[in-house]
Amino acid sequence: MRKPRIFVTRLIPDEGLAMIRDVAEMQVWEDELPPPRDVLLQHVREVDGLVSLLTDKIDEELLDLNPQLKVVSNYAVGFDNINIPAATVRGIPVGNTPGVLTDTTADLAFTLLMASARRIQESIAYVHAGKWKTWGPKLLTGQDVHGATLGIVGFGRIGQGMARRASGFGMRVFYHDLSRHKELEDSLGVKYADMDTLLRESDFVTLHTDLNESTRHLMNAAAFAKMKRTAFVINTARGPIVDPQALYDALKTGKIAGAALDVTEPEPIPLDSPLLKLPNCLIVPHIASASVATRAKMAQMAAANVVAGVRGDKLPTCVNPEVYEKGIRKTNT
Ligand code: DGY
Repeated sequence: MRKPRIFVTRLIPDEGLAMIRDVAEMQVWEDELPPPRDVLLQHVREVDGLVSLLTDKIDEELLDLNPQLKVVSNYAVGFDNINIPAATVRGIPVGNTPGVLTDTTADLAFTLLMASARRIQESIAYVHAGKWKTWGPKLLTGQDVHGATLGIVGFGRIGQGMARRASGFGMRVFYHDLSRHKELEDSLGVKYADMDTLLRESDFVTLHTDLNESTRHLMNAAAFAKMKRTAFVINTARGPIVDPQALYDALKTGKIAGAALDVTEPEPIPLDSPLLKLPNCLIVPHIASASVATRAKMAQMAAANVVAGVRGDKLPTCVNPEVYEKGIRKTNT
């Protein structure tokens, strides 16, 4: 029997590559940029398993190319780059990397919250521009984080991680989610609120929902109009949850005080985006899970998923487990 073939669409950490190399013929796309679509499709034609990134579009066209393709393992917890129903219909399990990046992502979200509240971006620019002449009573005054009200939109693992961090700062915390998590409210010291109340009451609104048709542009002009003029929005979830034009207008006209984004629409943000010209809009390049340790763990999880998939075993972390009821794709490796 031949070894399974696996294509990895970028250089993920060695901890994962070594696990794949042990059992498969592995090909890795080593460029900094994602493989162009035609290159990706060409590789997919030849493999039993694929390790994809959130920058790779996994759609029907790709899934139909190769009846041998047994598994797609996404190196991310999010999987909005993948057409999951299309994979399920074709008997292809899809893996992701939940859990290991929860705290690393919440750390960055809280970093962005604090940095925007205390005007860190403007303060750095001020020092670098040689404007720091003396201590000033009103110099770069920002907003307090301790004692402020935090609104968490989406109360999954990362949203809950934000609540834990907020309790250390004595914050009042509201959350909004599709369903109420009564069992967590006392232990995490949080209160459920409808979206309007959360927007109206919060000093900081932090986004932790999936991207889907109901959350696309959830933060639009109407939502910003409901927020306090002194409030901030933080997005470490997915860029399209925030309407970029509405955000620009809200920041420019003072409807809200500031924003901090780890993710943007589109991504990367174009250099001529007006958002980049605003001193109260802090933008970093989708690095929320980017700690050395977490990226290594993500690589191990993605490798474990793809290896299980090419063997016909259940993926340790599968986003479409219903595929096993329907029956997974059988191939002749
Ligand atoms: C994810 O995993 O979905 C993040 O956006 C990248 O780590």
